[in-house]
Amino acid sequence: MNYRHAYHAGNHADVLKHVVLARLMEHMKKKDKPFRVIDAHAGIGLYDLAGIEAGKTGEWEGGIGKLAQPFSAEIEALLAPYRAVIAALNPQGGLRYYPGSPELALRLMRANDRLVANELHPEDAIALEQQYLYDPRCEVTALDAETCLKAKLPPPERRGVILVDPPYEVKTEAEKTLRMLAHGVRRFAQGVFVVWYPLKADATAETVLAGVKELGVPATLKVQMRVREAFSGGGLAGSGLIILNTPWTLDTELKALVPALAERLGIGSWGQAEVSWLNSPT
Ligand SMILES: C[S@@+](CC[C@H](N)C(=O)[O-])C[C@H]1O[C@@H](n2cnc3c(N)ncnc32)[C@H](O)[C@@H]1O
Repeated sequence: MNYRHAYHAGNHADVLKHVVLARLMEHMKKKDKPFRVIDAHAGIGLYDLAGIEAGKTGEWEGGIGKLAQPFSAEIEALLAPYRAVIAALNPQGGLRYYPGSPELALRLMRANDRLVANELHPEDAIALEQQYLYDPRCEVTALDAETCLKAKLPPPERRGVILVDPPYEVKTEAEKTLRMLAHGVRRFAQGVFVVWYPLKADATAETVLAGVKELGVPATLKVQMRVREAFSGGGLAGSGLIILNTPWTLDTELKALVPALAERLGIGSWGQAEVSWLNSPT
């Protein structure tokens, strides 16, 4: 396992994923009944943008670093929960600490909601465990993501968000993601599953999109943001999320939000957004 998220925290893909996750948390809180977030690839939870890893790539500068200037009032209203978490982590102002998905979930969930944060990398799993040792809402596990979902689905609350956010380091990871998801949906058909995929000069995105669509889950939404052209050896040109059982009206919010993000984060005229149904709501 070579991938360490500390090198990439706060980049354009994190911004898209975390803005969407923050909106999702707001939707989940519309009902009083508690819910559970299962973060199958959690990372370490909190990132220091002044740290050695973030400094080596500077990726955050092309992501969260470009969000300092406010958007329109409509967009800022939708961004408010995401912005509030970042502001709470940086009480002196400025931008040094950036939340990973477990931090964002915990800060936006309620006292009776729960988080399972899972991370396989041995050192990152220890860091994650230490980060949330004293939060009784959070259980940290250090399993392979596929094993984690088998063990933790369905959640006792029967309401939940499952984040599948693999690094796609190895060629077989797209197939593994689809297998994991198919199994997850069988165990917890009403779950809100969120799957991340990269836009690179290969077929990963097409494979994941086609495989998830084939599951035939209603209200399957594709949310994609490209920031530049993809070329061989050129890394991440953008990213996307596929949401299964998308909460009512989240699509409308994202149809406003994601183009605004793409316009801001796109390089030159490359910023492109797509929010469309792979399988429509029934
Ligand atoms: C993209 S990062 C996660 C970022 C995090 N979800 C966030 O948004 O802040 C992917 C993480 O998955 C972990 N990972 C890789 N393979 C895994 C596996 N088979 N099971 C669980 N975690 C894995 C990596 O160590 C890495 O920390």
